[in-house]
Amino acid sequence: MMLEDNKDITILSIESSCDETSAAVLRNTRVLSNYIAGQKVHEKYGGVVPELASRAHMQNILPVVDAAIKDANISKSDLDAIAYTRGPGLMGALLVGVSFAKSFAQALDIPLIEVNHMKAHVLAHFLDNNAENYIPPSCPFLCLTISGGHTQIVHVKSPLEMEVIGSTIDDAAGEAFDKSAKLLGLPYPGGPMIDKLAKEGNPKAYDFPKPKVDDYNYSFSGFKTSVLRFVEKNPDAVKNNLPDICASIQSTLVDYLLEKFFEAAKDLGIDQLAIAGGVSANSEVRDKLRLAGEQNNWKVFIPKFEYCTDNAAMIGASAYFQFKQKDFGSLDANAIARLKL
Ligand code: KG4
Ligand code: ZN
Repeated sequence: MMLEDNKDITILSIESSCDETSAAVLRNTRVLSNYIAGQKVHEKYGGVVPELASRAHMQNILPVVDAAIKDANISKSDLDAIAYTRGPGLMGALLVGVSFAKSFAQALDIPLIEVNHMKAHVLAHFLDNNAENYIPPSCPFLCLTISGGHTQIVHVKSPLEMEVIGSTIDDAAGEAFDKSAKLLGLPYPGGPMIDKLAKEGNPKAYDFPKPKVDDYNYSFSGFKTSVLRFVEKNPDAVKNNLPDICASIQSTLVDYLLEKFFEAAKDLGIDQLAIAGGVSANSEVRDKLRLAGEQNNWKVFIPKFEYCTDNAAMIGASAYFQFKQKDFGSLDANAIARLKL
């Protein structure tokens, strides 16, 4: 994808909204580099500790940016703009990226681009590197964004015009996975562990109730309580039969997430369906979406694993579209922890 006047755009993007410090260099929508430094420090606390996240971002940001620029084989003077995640996310964590991006853009005398993290998860679908000869979705399409902090069904009318048509009224889908895993004694983040154990288990072994909420909205707090009750009542099963429990929890959550998503697609008459966010790395979500695509004649878009969880390449994808619209940020802008889509 290139500008009409054929001028390539090279952007350095920075992501620091939660517990991954990431920097990427994109030329238009092609990823030249995408560095992600995770933060192991949170594991022993069973969840992200905001103060520790900010401190780790401060330690990681310079080496990560440096590596992204070197790996892209460019020099700083090739950059046309610096993009950063403005929100939503943890305030202290966001501030590290914001401050770094502002000073870097000022030093290089190039524009800043403020990116919404949730839009960026969706726009990861426009990265050329998603597959060999990859063709991105055409608008309009529907995206189910499922992460550790959000659960949204998004109607994507154009890359920069999106409407949330359904969302969670309490916990996020990723939290439902992580909190269930914690109750089962599994390490944080529990989502990938549940996925792994579920592969060996029987999804019909145990019954967990599907939450009931109107419209295209979701709720997960009651689900967490039902897992808690189960663990209290069945200590032997937790000890001896984790795969069956994980498979049953996962299939309930995945069916619940996809049923509403598919209902929305049918109601709106949209036949292109995409998934995004950390939970879209889940193998059952991917398999069931693929199958539904075949059954309903839908075109489905499943991102590469590296673009599902938090990464700076997706921030660069949004920045590319914003650059073309001359949607530049200001040096006075601050992070917004609860930035809306
Ligand atoms: O998008 P993300 O990296 O960060 C946020 O913006 O929240 O999502 C992280 C979430 C965590 O809750 C993690 O457990 C979940 O994504 N996750 C998974 C899988 N991989 C990551 N959940 C279920 N199955 C997976 N394979
Ligand atoms: Zn995210």
